[in-house]
Amino acid sequence: MAGILNSKVTLITGGGSGIGRASALAFERAGATVVVADYNAEGGERTVGIIKDAGGEAMFYPADVSNPEDIEALVNKIVETYGRLDCAFNNAGIEGEFAALSKCTIENWQRVISINLNGVFYCMKYEIAQMLRQGGGSIVNTSSVAGLVGAARAGAYSAAKHGVVGLTKTAALEYARKNIRVNAVCPGFVRTPMADRLIDRGTLGEKSMIASEPINRMGRPEEIAEAVVWLCSDAASFVTGVSMPVDGGLVAQ
Ligand code: NAI
Repeated sequence: MAGILNSKVTLITGGGSGIGRASALAFERAGATVVVADYNAEGGERTVGIIKDAGGEAMFYPADVSNPEDIEALVNKIVETYGRLDCAFNNAGIEGEFAALSKCTIENWQRVISINLNGVFYCMKYEIAQMLRQGGGSIVNTSSVAGLVGAARAGAYSAAKHGVVGLTKTAALEYARKNIRVNAVCPGFVRTPMADRLIDRGTLGEKSMIASEPINRMGRPEEIAEAVVWLCSDAASFVTGVSMPVDGGLVAQ
C-alpha cells in the first residue's frame, strides 16, 4: 500500500503485542515493509500474519533485546533480506515488579534495566552502524511518561525510561549530520496487555490510571502508533532529539 513510509524497511521490537503490534499495522498501512522482532514468537508471528492478510510485506525474527548477539544477528538478517534498514522503532519493554526502592529486588532492577535500557542501546548500536553504511535513517525509541517524571514504586522502570531519553538526545546529536534522526515517544497509560497485567495484579487500578489522565481516559495503542509513524517519516524531517509525550496531557500537570 502506498503511503508516507512507502517501501521503507522498518524494524519494530516488541511487535508481538500492544503498542508494538499497533505500530506494525500502522507502518504497513503507511506502506512500509515491516520486520517484527519479539521474544514471544507466537505474538510476533500473529502480527506478521495480520500484516500479510492485509496484503503487506512483513517478516518475524525471534530476538531478545537484552541479548546483544540477538540484535546484531537481527540487523544482519534484515540487511541480508531487504538490503537496508530505513526506520527502527525500539519499543520492547517490560513493566517489572512494583515496589519502593528499599524493597526493589536486585533481580528486578537488573532485569528491567537490561531489557528497557540496555536493549535500546544494543538496538541503536547495530541499527545506527547500518544506517551510517547506507547514508541515513530514522529511529524512534519507546520511553514513557515515567521517563519524564518520577514513578513511585517503579524506580527501575523510571530510571530505565529516563535513560532512554538521555540516549535518544545523545544519539540525535551524534548523528544529526549523518542524516539519522533519533526521537522517542513517551506514552501515558495505554490500554495494552501490559496495562491489563498491572490492573489484574492489583498493582495499579484502572480508575487511578484514568484519573491521572487529564483527558479522562486511557490511550489506545493506535494513538501512540500515529506519533511513531509521523516521527519516522520524512514529514518530521526537522525533528530530532525530541522525547514526545503522547499522554493525554499527563505530564502537562
Ligand atoms: P506489551 O507487554 O503489550 O508488549 C510488549 C512486547 O514487548 C511484548 O510482545 C513482549 O513479548 C515484548 N518484549 C518484552 N521484553 C522483550 C525482550 N527482552 N525482547 C524482545 N521482546 C520483548 O506492552 P506495551 O504496553 O505495548 O509496551 C510497549 C512499550 O511501551 C514498552 O517499552 C513499555 O514500557 C512502553 N509503555 C507502555 C505504556 C502503557 O501504558 N502500556 C506506558 C508507557 C510506556
